[in-house]
Amino acid sequence: MGVRVRAWRVHALGEPQDVMTWDDVPDPAEHADMLRLRVDAVALNFPDLLLCRGLYQEKPPLPFTPGVEVVGTVLDGPRAGERVLASPALPHGGLAEQVAVAEAFVLPLPDDLPVAKAAGLLVTYQTGWVGLHRRAQLQAGETLLVHAGAGGVGSAAIQLGLAAGARVIATAGGPDKVQVCRDLGADVVVDYLVEDFVAVVKDATEGRGADVVYDSVGGDVFDKSRRCVAFEGRIVVVGFAGGRIADAPTNHALVKNYSVVGLHWGLYRTHQPQLIHETHAALLELWGRGLIDPLIGAELPLSDAPSALARLGDRGTVGKVVLLP
Ligand SMILES: NC(=O)c1ccc[n+]([C@@H]2O[C@H](COP(=O)([O-])OP(=O)(O)OC[C@H]3O[C@@H](n4cnc5c(N)ncnc54)[C@H](OP(=O)(O)O)[C@@H]3O)[C@@H](O)[C@H]2O)c1
Repeated sequence: MGVRVRAWRVHALGEPQDVMTWDDVPDPAEHADMLRLRVDAVALNFPDLLLCRGLYQEKPPLPFTPGVEVVGTVLDGPRAGERVLASPALPHGGLAEQVAVAEAFVLPLPDDLPVAKAAGLLVTYQTGWVGLHRRAQLQAGETLLVHAGAGGVGSAAIQLGLAAGARVIATAGGPDKVQVCRDLGADVVVDYLVEDFVAVVKDATEGRGADVVYDSVGGDVFDKSRRCVAFEGRIVVVGFAGGRIADAPTNHALVKNYSVVGLHWGLYRTHQPQLIHETHAALLELWGRGLIDPLIGAELPLSDAPSALARLGDRGTVGKVVLLP
C-alpha cells in the first residue's frame, strides 16, 4: 500500500473557496517514470484561479489539483535530497504535500536562492523572458510598456525590461501598486484607474509611443494600447486578467505598422522543452548579477490555498503569493 498523501483538489468548477477540498490522494510514487518531490513551496499564478473557474484554455478532468510552479526536494532515486524548481503537469498540480514531475521539467536551483523567491522564478519570469526577447525582440534603448506592473507577470516584466536596457513605463491600479512599480525601478508609472495611460505614454515618448507593450490585462487596456504603440511596435498578448478578450482590428495594425504577438509560454513545454532549460540558465545568470529578484508579496500556509487564490481574483495581491507547507 502506498503512502498517505494529501492535496488540494477542485471537484467542480467555481470559486476556489467553494470547490476545493484537502483530500487524501493516490501516492505520486505510482507514476514510476517521474521524480517524486516533497513540496517545499508553491507559487500561485492567475491561471490557477482561472482553472478553478473553468475559464482557462486548459480544462483538466475533475477532480484536479492546481499549482504549476513548485520548489520541491527529490525524495527517491539518484537525485534524492536535491532541491529543484518544477512545473507539474495537470491534473496532478503542486498544491499538495508531494507531487510527481517529469524529469524534463525539473530545473536546478542554487543553494543561495531562498525558497519563496525560487518558487517565483518559473512561470512569470520564463513568460517574461520568452515574451520580451523571443516574441517581441525587445532591444536596449526601446520603450517597454508593462501593464499591471505590480502583479506577478508585470513585476517580472518590469525587472526583465530594465535588465535588457529598456526604458520601462508601468501601469498599475491604485497608489500602493504604483509605489510597488516605482520601487521595482520603472522609469514612469501610471495609475491607470485614474489617469489616461495613452496620454502619459505619448508624452513620455515625444508622441512616438511604446516599442513593446506587454499586456496581461486585455479588454480596454489592449484597445487603448493600440493607440500608443510605436511605428513597428509589438503588442504582446500575455493574458486577460481584466476578463474581456479584445479584438485586434487588422486594418489598424496595417495603417500603424505594428504587430500583435501572441504568447503562450506553456506550449514551449511540449514544442521546445530545451528552451525552458536555456531560459532558466539565463534567468539564474540575471539573478546572480542582481538584475532580477522575484517580488514576493505574501507567504502563506498551504492550508490557505483557496482564500489565497480568491485574493488574486480581487486584485488583492502584489508580486507573487507563495504557499508554504
Ligand atoms: N501567456 C502566458 O503564457 C501567461 C503566463 C502566465 C500568466 N499569464 C496570464 O497573465 C495574467 C496575469 O497573471 P498573474 O499571475 O500575474 O496575475 P496577478 O499577479 O494576479 O496579476 C494580475 C493583475 O492584473 C490586474 N487586473 C486588471 N483587471 C483585473 C481583474 N478584473 N481581476 C484581477 N486582476 C486584474 C491587477 O493589477 P492592477 O490592480 O494593477 O490592475 C492584477 O494585479 C493572467 O491573465 C494570466 O492568465 C499568461
